[in-house]
Amino acid sequence: MATDNVLELNHIRKTYTSKNKISTLALNDVSVELRMGEVLGIVGESGSGKTTLGRIMTGSLAQDEGHIILFGNDITDLKPKKKAEEFFHSRMVYQIPQEAFDQKHTIGDGIRDDLKAMKVPRKELNSKAVELLDVCGLPQEYLEHYPFEMSGGQSVRACVARAITVEPEILVCDEVTRALDATEQKNIIQLLFNIKRVYNLSMVFISHDLNLVSKFCDRIIVMENGKIAEQGSAKEIMENPKTDYAKKLVEHTLLVHSENAVIGALGLPRAASQAKRDEEHRKQLEE
Ligand SMILES: Nc1ncnc2c1ncn2[C@@H]1O[C@H](COP(=O)(O)OP(=O)(O)O)[C@@H](O)[C@H]1O
Ligand SMILES: [Mg+2]
Repeated sequence: MATDNVLELNHIRKTYTSKNKISTLALNDVSVELRMGEVLGIVGESGSGKTTLGRIMTGSLAQDEGHIILFGNDITDLKPKKKAEEFFHSRMVYQIPQEAFDQKHTIGDGIRDDLKAMKVPRKELNSKAVELLDVCGLPQEYLEHYPFEMSGGQSVRACVARAITVEPEILVCDEVTRALDATEQKNIIQLLFNIKRVYNLSMVFISHDLNLVSKFCDRIIVMENGKIAEQGSAKEIMENPKTDYAKKLVEHTLLVHSENAVIGALGLPRAASQAKRDEEHRKQLEE
């Protein structure tokens, strides 16, 4: 089958059932394609199903219903071990390193584990791990650090280093810039794009922030309550959103954007202005 899609998800459903038997329909008939070499943005409010979708796209979670076509092969009915092999070069980068690394082991242990799986000879494990950290802007002493000893930006860099250990073809980044300041956000996005170029990746960028995603994604999918509300190019979504939900996200984006522009014009950094508002709010409460 000739196709430009590296991945296709067709009519995916996923329900979580909690310990007290409460069911949540996290994905309801979701169909997505990821095209070769593109950057696909997935946006939506918290709880709309973005992380669930990302995890199914990288095989770290199984769907209840629907089909998955990976590199042109229908892998839906493969046994779990075989499916994991097929998904080996599809990786997720999380905002929190706790998701990507074992807390009891160092960053180096995690990276060396994946290098072993890549059949890198034992005597090259360390130098290769140092090289991967270096690509991601971390000095080699971070090999000995534990995940909880890292700052937000360092954590993301360590997660990226681990993901590229397996020479990925698909990278799904889940809210990786959420807790970072504007400069580090820019640096991380730059790093991801460098990596995308080196590995010729297809990339998914999950975020609640439509403003950010619209700046560099080729296409955008808007998620609402476990369904796709809308999809299109960044320009189409930003300039001509069709659903009320997408309109709301765009309006919010424009509001935040213009607020930032005003703050910028006043020469106040965003955090300072937020602190000022908090202070004013506190004073009002005291009066
Ligand atoms: N492990 C889980 N157990 C039960 N419910 C879950 C679990 N993970 C996610 N959910 C629920 O599924 C829905 C979608 O969650 P998620 O995919 O994390 O959304 P998002 O990433 O957009 O915030 C939410 O209602 C969430 O509470
Ligand atoms: Mg999420």
